[in-house]
Amino acid sequence: MVNVAILGFGVVGSGVAEVLFTNETHIDRKAGGPIRLKYILDVRDFPDSPFAGKVVHDFSVIENDPEVSIVVETIGGARAALDFTRRALAAGKSVVTSNKELVAEHGCELLKLAAEKGVSYLFEASVGGGIPIIRPLNQCLAANEIEEICGILNGTTNYILTRMIRAGLSFDAALKEAQANGYAEADPTADIEGHDACRKICILASLAFGRHIYPRQVPTEGIVAVTLADVAYADSCGKKIKLLGRAIRQDDGKVCAYVAPHLVDGGDPLAGVEDVFNAITVKGNAIGEVMFYGRGAGKLPTASAVVADVIDAARHRDEKKRVFWAEGGEDVTASSAGLESAWYVRAEGTAEGIRAAFPGCTLLARADAPEGEFALLTGSMTRSTLDARLAGLAVRSAFRVLD
Ligand code: HSE
Repeated sequence: MVNVAILGFGVVGSGVAEVLFTNETHIDRKAGGPIRLKYILDVRDFPDSPFAGKVVHDFSVIENDPEVSIVVETIGGARAALDFTRRALAAGKSVVTSNKELVAEHGCELLKLAAEKGVSYLFEASVGGGIPIIRPLNQCLAANEIEEICGILNGTTNYILTRMIRAGLSFDAALKEAQANGYAEADPTADIEGHDACRKICILASLAFGRHIYPRQVPTEGIVAVTLADVAYADSCGKKIKLLGRAIRQDDGKVCAYVAPHLVDGGDPLAGVEDVFNAITVKGNAIGEVMFYGRGAGKLPTASAVVADVIDAARHRDEKKRVFWAEGGEDVTASSAGLESAWYVRAEGTAEGIRAAFPGCTLLARADAPEGEFALLTGSMTRSTLDARLAGLAVRSAFRVLD
């Protein structure tokens, strides 16, 4: 018998309890023996929940119970979650988490601690919700030198952009819908300002390239600057606006990682990824390009990935499968400033001014554009060249075009 404790009974934690209970017979068969939920740690009580009798408020009850061998951390954040994870690993318990902030900031330390204690630290649910990506990247693609990872990594922002594109909804109305569906973080700033996608690309890049890449090393732009005018201009040239996280391995071995809105061609598979769905493309030197797609947020899809890790931890109690990356450093990453791409620009000025700055550019049109507004697609250039050409124009939006 394997006893499990869940830390944090929010959207994901309650989903984990539900999946463990609903799919018990199947899970036991997959795990090679019974897996039972023994405790739920939360500051709240849940008198109406069928799991009310399992709620405890003191982590040391779990820490000191030798019958608990797997701890599921679904608290989120990097404060109490970090303390409890360190203590659980130190007590010889495997930890399974959906907490991308913790893995992105402290993954290297926690993986090392798990290895020292002979237990597992597993985090499939931290990226892409229910999409299998961590294990495929770590195992199935292990033969490859990874060249690039590019993905729609945040369900909330993809939902908002889809509702703006498809229904002409305002940003605020679309965000409210995403919150009501349980996709957004407790504080949705992390979603809309791109920090959540940043944490996820850090985890994928650390795993793929073997050294810890920290969120502070990854320039991050969210979708707060995207307007319905940008959506209309993108549509006029057959493109969709998507928030992408990218990590590209340069020839010198450094990793150029960033998060920003992009215009994606309508024919690109990423353009068809809508609502809460996420998609991640991985380019490897043997496999070429492979894409992972599915529900990137939400209670049961995320719980699906967490419970799969619980089963994995239970099955491999005596024969650990190691996930590892080395400590990071300033020598790991390269600035995205040197990365060339075409750009979409929306600015105010005169037609002469625009043509002088971008000779031969493609001007875009949309219905009801105000006097003096121009939008265009540039040729391939770096951000600094773009900024130099934009000097003197009132720039409203400037997004990369995915090549
Ligand atoms: N807030 C996150 C998202 C949840 O919208 O993608 C899943 O990590």
